[in-house]
Amino acid sequence: MSVADGSPSGSRTPPVGPTPPGHADKMLSLPDIEELARQTLSPMAYDYVASGAADELTIGWNRQAFDRIKLRPTVLQDASQVDMRVTLLGDELPHPILLAPTAYQSVVHPEGEVATARGAGAAGAPFVVSTATTAPLEEIARVATAPLWFQLYVQSDREFTTRLVRAAEEAGCRALCLTVDNPVLGARNRQARSGFRLPAGALTPYLDDLNNGRRDLFTAERVAVTWKDVEWLRSLSSMPVLLKGILTGSDARLAVESGAAGVIVSNHGGRNLDTLPATIEALPEVVAGVAGRLPVLVDGGIRRGTDVLKSIALGADAVLIGRPYLYGLGTGGAGGVQRVVDILRRELELAMTLCGRASLAALDHGTLWNPPADYFA
Ligand code: FNR
Ligand code: LAC
Repeated sequence: MSVADGSPSGSRTPPVGPTPPGHADKMLSLPDIEELARQTLSPMAYDYVASGAADELTIGWNRQAFDRIKLRPTVLQDASQVDMRVTLLGDELPHPILLAPTAYQSVVHPEGEVATARGAGAAGAPFVVSTATTAPLEEIARVATAPLWFQLYVQSDREFTTRLVRAAEEAGCRALCLTVDNPVLGARNRQARSGFRLPAGALTPYLDDLNNGRRDLFTAERVAVTWKDVEWLRSLSSMPVLLKGILTGSDARLAVESGAAGVIVSNHGGRNLDTLPATIEALPEVVAGVAGRLPVLVDGGIRRGTDVLKSIALGADAVLIGRPYLYGLGTGGAGGVQRVVDILRRELELAMTLCGRASLAALDHGTLWNPPADYFA
């Protein structure tokens, strides 16, 4: 049985979404779709998505750390019906896979964020819209059928930032996700080498500093954002505020004290500070710091259903994917985004059945072969 053509008997999840004509045999897994994107996108667009900071060591570690973790199955359990539902910030989701915020999606597809929102809706995945979106929130919200969250970069004009937060709330965004790991962008060597540029005429409606020539997302101007600002952001709207880019137990405890509604364990997909540890390596420390008081999400290197399973077994409530859905978008538009989430969801379901675990709540350290301390020794 392949991922594309079947599910455990009795499964209630829908089939995997559409493939673009001519590509069905090349889009069976997320690594397949990445390879297709490498062959078909312009080198500039592919490098924009694929690249990271400096020597890109963290990108590799994000993957290698998952691969080192082994699974511990239990047999003769009835896990033919798998329940992947999770409730996050009051919304019940059909599965624990979200789309991470990613900038400038019109670089990979002309319909950019609007197509992503369509695909996310078809796959039942919340979509976190980046401040660096190339489509306006109203257009994204018009087609969205799954929850939208808004990712915030605080800009030097605080009034503009305030208006932006309110615009996100008015557009129906369910949460605000403050990215805390890039007061300045890292050394994007590969991206610079391949001549990154936005398509002619691309809009960046919410990058006030960029549009006014004060600051470019890819230059080294800094806007100081501190723990005090979390309180300020919470006061601007009724949206819960999550912090994206937490890697340590001490910052996790401060996040709880700051009134944050959740944390996202992330190293920005290895795009900012190279040689940060793999996120799956940092996850147990953050989970311990949070101590059940907030939801914990994780992103970075998730490419297989078994990676999702391992993340949840190590204490995450849900995961986000970044590059994989951009490769889906670039190769198949909205249908490609849907297909990426569908494949991952189906792989998670298979892995749970094969591990003998019928619900996300049944995934814990006992689903893993070694105790967590051993993985990263
Ligand atoms: C990102 N990421 C990101 N994060 C953020 O908070 N705001 C942003 O605008 C962007 N932009 C962005 C662009 C591109 C092209 C990529 C690949 C990533 C980081 C993103 O949210 C997420 O943390 C990582 O992508 C997760 O790692 P994987 O799944 O790409 O390995
Ligand atoms: C990136 C920024 C824009 O990762 O967050 O490309």
